[in-house]
Order: sequence, then C-alpha cells, then structure tokens
Amino acid sequence: MHLLVLSALISSFLNINEGADWCYQSQDPCGSHCKGPDHWQDTENADKCAGSSQSPINIVTKRALLNDNLTPLQFKGYQDAFNSYIVNNGHSVKVDVSTRATVSGGNLLTVYKAVQFHLHWGKDGGPGSEHTVDGEQYPMEMHIVHMKQDYSSLPQALKDPTGVAVLGFFYEESPSSNRKYEPVINALKKIKQTGTNVTINIPSLNALLPPPKNMTNYFRYQGSLTTPGCTESVVWTVFEHPVPLSKGQLKAFSELKFKSGEPMVGTFRPVQPLNGRMVYRSASNVVLASAVLLTFSTSAAIGLSWSN
Ligand SMILES: *[C@@H]1O[C@H](CO)[C@@H](O)[C@H](O)[C@H]1NC(C)=O
Ligand SMILES: *[C@@H]1O[C@H](CO)[C@@H](O)[C@H](O)[C@H]1NC(C)=O
Ligand SMILES: [Zn+2]
Repeated sequence: MHLLVLSALISSFLNINEGADWCYQSQDPCGSHCKGPDHWQDTENADKCAGSSQSPINIVTKRALLNDNLTPLQFKGYQDAFNSYIVNNGHSVKVDVSTRATVSGGNLLTVYKAVQFHLHWGKDGGPGSEHTVDGEQYPMEMHIVHMKQDYSSLPQALKDPTGVAVLGFFYEESPSSNRKYEPVINALKKIKQTGTNVTINIPSLNALLPPPKNMTNYFRYQGSLTTPGCTESVVWTVFEHPVPLSKGQLKAFSELKFKSGEPMVGTFRPVQPLNGRMVYRSASNVVLASAVLLTFSTSAAIGLSWSN
C-alpha cells in the first residue's frame, strides 16, 4: 500500500510516463503502459495530434463534392521493380521505395515522389482500415507516402502544408488469394519481431494496386499524418475500389508482433472530426459512362430527326 503510493508519487514527480512511446488502442486497453490515441498529443513533438485537420476521417459519400478537376492520376515509375527492405518498426510494416516513382495530375499542385508504403490492419482480417466510408471499416489500408519532388526529406516536406501526398488503398476479402501480394505476405513470416527486417523484391508498385480503370474513383481532402506527430501537411487521395486479398493473406499480418510480444493487430487510429473541411470526389466512371450513353442517344435522336 505505502509502496504503491510512494511509487505513484515518484512517477508523477519524475513524469515517468512523459516520454512513454505512443501506441494504438489495441495495445492499451486500460490506459496504463503506453499513450493511446487519446493521449498522443502528450508524446514528444505531437501537439498537432489535438489539431483540427486530422486524419483519418469517415468519408460520407453523399456529402462528398463532385470536383471535375479530379481527373485520373498520372503515375511514373510505378511499373518498375525495385529491391528494398521490409521492416517491422513496432507500429506497422514499412517498405522504403528505392526507385523513382512519382504521381501527379488529379488536381495535385505538382509532382510528388514516392518515399515509402506501409499498412494498417485489424485482427485476423477483421475491421482495420483507418479511413471509413459511410461508416464501413475495411480489413486493411495501404498508404503510399509521397513528398513534393523538390524536397530531400520527409521532415522538410512536412513543414509545407501541401508538402506530402498520401495515396490510400482499401483491401477487401476475396475467395482466392492475390498472387501479386506473395512477396509481401511471404516476407511477413521473417519479420515477426519488432525491429527486424528482410530484403524484398517488389515486382512493381502497380502490382500492389487495383487496375488503372478501377483507380478513377477517389476522394480528396486535406489532413494529417495518422501517427504522431500528426503533422497537418497531407493532401489525401483515398481510392474507392479495394484491392482483393484472401482471408489467409489478411490474417498473415496478425502474425506480426509489437515490441511487447503481443500480436500486432488493430494498427489504426480512430476517425477524427472533419471540423468543416470539405471532402471532394472525382467524377465516377459510372456517371461518365451514362453521360456518354446520353450524348450518344441524344445525337442519334437528332440525327434521326434531321434525316427525316
Ligand atoms: C535491418 O536490420 C539490420 C540488422 O538489425 C540493421 O542493421 C539495419 O539497419 C536494418 N535496416 C533497415 C532498413 O531497417
Ligand atoms: C475492378 O472493379 C470492378 C467493378 O467494381 C470489379 O468487379 C473488379 O473486381 C475490380 N477489379 C479488381 C482487380 O479490383
Ligand atoms: Zn499510414
């Protein structure tokens, strides 16, 4: 009893928890060992986590404003193979992009180059994406982090309110496995422990994405990094069409371990308030298809009446 009081006094005096590492809700069920999402702003250089333009968000499709400037993105170098490391960094799995791959167009201000990609997931293929769409949480979400091509480091780009562009891709469970993901899934077995890594050959970034015709539908808004420091310098592009993975492939991510040795699951931040921000959506190809049809039938009708 006395010892408990004493140790509580000492730890509050020394601010022992002050430097405690941040963690996800899944790691901190009773708010004791580490700082969960509600306390990220109390970790080092993370006061922005309490800011008003935070990510992720719930995307309400009905309220997303159609923006004709959100044309298909232009990808360069996304077809190239590259060698890199896949790392268990204690919060996620991350792969640095070691080839020149860029994205532009779609109302982005300039050309952004890919820096790294990482994922967020649930438990054994259960809900785990960071963004949600009309309240639906997908089993997993990939973030390809880009920075304006003139910057040489992410910290530098994060000082610019539009310095970073992140592309977000959802996953969905499919009956068959996605062979294009085999290099990533196979590597997971070798990096179960936090702090470990293994070399990986990525056949191409394209191979990890939906086919181009399924990437015309996306959402755009201004937000933040979804991990501390939560810097509000991110132009978000969240694609509507998910990437298919089998249940087994999704479950493979739950085999990874946090630093504590516990399964690395629930690696997502809860959705954050919009606070009046606008969410835009690209012209959907479904609408486009019917517009073409309408134009065609109108001109056919005009042609018919003229010929009469
Ligand atoms: C991979 O692990 C080795 C050995 O622990 C370490 O020296 C190296 O810095 C790590 N590389 C990356 C990219 O994390
Ligand atoms: C592309 O989108 C169509 C229509 O939603 C879907 O049926 C198809 O499975 C998607 N293809 C892939 C590889 O995601
Ligand atoms: Zn992320």
